[in-house]
This record gives sequence, C-alpha cells and structure tokens, in this order.
Amino acid sequence: NVIYLLRKLTIIASLCVFVKGRYSHVSCQVVENKWCTVQRLQITDRTNVRSLVFPDDRYEKIRIGQYYSFINTDSIIVIFSGELFYRMRRVRYLHMNGVRMVGLDMPDTIIELDVSDNWLSRVYIDPEKRYNLRKLIMRNNLLTNIAGFKYLIKLEELNLSENMLHTVNFVVFSFIPYIRLIDLARNRILFTSGGQSVISLDFLETLNMAENKLTTLDIGVWIFPSLLTLNLTGNPIGLLSLSNHYSFSRLTNILL
Ligand SMILES: *[C@@H]1O[C@H](CO)[C@@H](O)[C@H](O)[C@H]1NC(C)=O
Ligand SMILES: *[C@@H]1O[C@H](CO)[C@@H](O)[C@H](O)[C@H]1NC(C)=O
Repeated sequence: NVIYLLRKLTIIASLCVFVKGRYSHVSCQVVENKWCTVQRLQITDRTNVRSLVFPDDRYEKIRIGQYYSFINTDSIIVIFSGELFYRMRRVRYLHMNGVRMVGLDMPDTIIELDVSDNWLSRVYIDPEKRYNLRKLIMRNNLLTNIAGFKYLIKLEELNLSENMLHTVNFVVFSFIPYIRLIDLARNRILFTSGGQSVISLDFLETLNMAENKLTTLDIGVWIFPSLLTLNLTGNPIGLLSLSNHYSFSRLTNILL
C-alpha cells in the first residue's frame, strides 16, 4: 500500500545520508524539473558543517525543506552560514522554506533565494562582496531592518511581505537600480522616508505596501516612470499625500 511504500522511500532516503569516511553525503531525495530536493537535513549549532558534502555539480537548483509529504521529513537549518554555503557553492537557485532559520549569511553567487516561512531576524550582508542575487523571497519572517540590502545591487524582485518592518528608508532602493517589484505588504510600517534625495527607479512596476500602518506616504522625490501598480489597501491613509515632486507617468492602479 501507499503508506508502506512512502515509509520505505523515507527509509531509503535516510540511508542516502550515509557516512563515507569522515564526510556525510547529503543527497537529493527527489529530482524533478532539474530541482534537487533535500529533505530531513538537520543543521543546528552543534552540527559540524565542514563534514557535509552536498549533491554534486549536476544540480544548480536545490530545495531544502518539506516539499513532498513523506513521513517525518522536516528539515532544520538554524543558521545558514557562509561555511555551509561553501559546501554547496555551485548552486544558483536555492529554496529553504520552513526550516526554522533564524540567521542567514547572504550567499553571493546565488541568483534566486527563497527563505520564506522562517524566523529570520539576522541577515548578514557583506559590503565587500558582489552579490548576484536577482530574486529574493523572504516573506513571513521577523525582519525589522533592511538597510544592508543596498548591497544587493542586482535585485529585480524583492518580497518582504509579512515581516516586522516599522520604517523603510527608500534610499536603500536607490542603490538597486533594476528593481522591478517590491512587496512590503503586511508589515508594521508607520512611515517611509527618503530624505531629500531623488529616488529614481526606472524599472519599478509594482510597489505593494498594503496592510501596514501608513497614514501618509513620503519618500522624498520619486521618479518611478514604469510604475503600474501602487497597492496601499488596508492602511489608515486619510488623504493620500504623495509628496509634491513625483513622476509616475504610467501609474494606472492606485489601490487604496
Ligand atoms: C509575496 O508573498 C506573499 C505571501 O506572503 C504573496 O501573497 C505575494 O503574492 C507575493 N508577492 C508577489 C508580488 O509575488
Ligand atoms: C494588494 O495587496 C494585498 C496584500 O498583499 C493583496 O491581498 C491584494 O490582492 C492586493 N491588491 C491587488 C489588486 O493587487
């Protein structure tokens, strides 16, 4: 029967994390559409990550977490450290959802990172590194500050919905010229700022700030010529006081 088969698969899967000499080989339980899925990986602060060997170079795309409902296949990665990333440094697309992560050293050669549904509050971004990240999905975490994100200069998509942000200084985005989508919905944002600087984002199409605590929207001088959608639903905005100087030539949807 199916349960028996699944259980057997799980046992086989766990045997795949075998020990060869002093190294533990982490292997893919399922490979589908070029994604290698690793389940039942447990990395706590006591794990010696130096002894881990990740799937070989065939896999550019790795997902870690519970993606298939085999029995008892939860994964834990409390801290995603640079040392751990070094073990799988050929990966370019990395998804680690619901693995109880609290801290993350941003990996520099990843193109797409999804770490949604974790407990992340500490994200370390090294100003000396050149990050290749294009898409960052970090929804449903505990972030309070994104000042360091300005070093993610190649970002095109950023989803930070359902975090704990209180304020957002839009100057951060002026370092990220190719950004197309910013989702900051469902945070606790009371106000935005931008100082007196000109925030010019040529490619920004969608800005979602729905379900925050905004009473006004002030981000200094905006120039968002490609903006199509500005979502402000679920905010206590009385009168939308967009700052005096702005340029949205294509804005077709303002949702209040
Ligand atoms: C961002 O994540 C939320 C879930 O928290 C999702 O509903 C939303 O569609 C995502 N935003 C975009 C633009 O994909
Ligand atoms: C505005 O954002 C909220 C929260 O993410 C979402 O539920 C809603 O569908 C969005 N509205 C539109 C029209 O995109």
